[in-house]
Amino acid sequence: MTEEPGIPEHWFERADSAPDEMFYSVPRMVAHIDQATIDALTRFYEEFIPANARVLDLMSSWISHLPEDTDYRHVSGLGMNAEELNTNPRLNDWCVHNLNENPALPYSEGTFDRALIAVSIQYLTRPVDVMKSIASVLSPGGRVCIAMSHRCFPTKAIAAFQRLPARDRIRLVMFYLENAGFEEVEFIDRSPEGADPLWLVVGTAPG
Ligand SMILES: C[S@@+](CC[C@H](N)C(=O)[O-])C[C@H]1O[C@@H](n2cnc3c(N)ncnc32)[C@H](O)[C@@H]1O
Repeated sequence: MTEEPGIPEHWFERADSAPDEMFYSVPRMVAHIDQATIDALTRFYEEFIPANARVLDLMSSWISHLPEDTDYRHVSGLGMNAEELNTNPRLNDWCVHNLNENPALPYSEGTFDRALIAVSIQYLTRPVDVMKSIASVLSPGGRVCIAMSHRCFPTKAIAAFQRLPARDRIRLVMFYLENAGFEEVEFIDRSPEGADPLWLVVGTAPG
């Protein structure tokens, strides 16, 4: 069981508490949100990530939703399935790393300008520790974007994301970032009409 100060312990319970390596051993080359929602996320990334940035895509898979025609200096991916990550055309390098086992990221301090987590925050059982680790691998003033929607693997999502209404789930993610020392934590709604919602929480690493 996890402990995060200020968050009830039972919010982190999961129906499937077996090691994540088991669930993610099978590659899933699928989209987890509607195409219109993916397009809205890609458009947001166009604004959020400067060209030539060093980008970290956490909880990554075969797709990073980055704009096709923008060149970044470097894109690193971290996730649970090697086959998915190896298929992702945007990644310059990748690693398999279980953030619930070890929230410390395997990168040096100040390596990245932007860090992204797309439609996966609900699977983290030690989220504030992961956010602190993200803050340390970002350069001062670097930014993080947590993109959320309303779908999940129900056995693997923590109880909070199954029981709380959307407004409180967004507030919880803002709390994760604030508790990890991020500044300018902000919620942005980019949900397209008639498709899965797109709720974004962004923050800035302390300078
Ligand atoms: C719903 S998929 C989203 C994948 C991708 N970000 C996207 O937008 O399509 C959830 C992702 O979270 C990753 N993940 C789940 N548990 C994880 C853990 N404990 N540590 C690191 N990554 C994890 C999985 O590898 C998977 O790629």
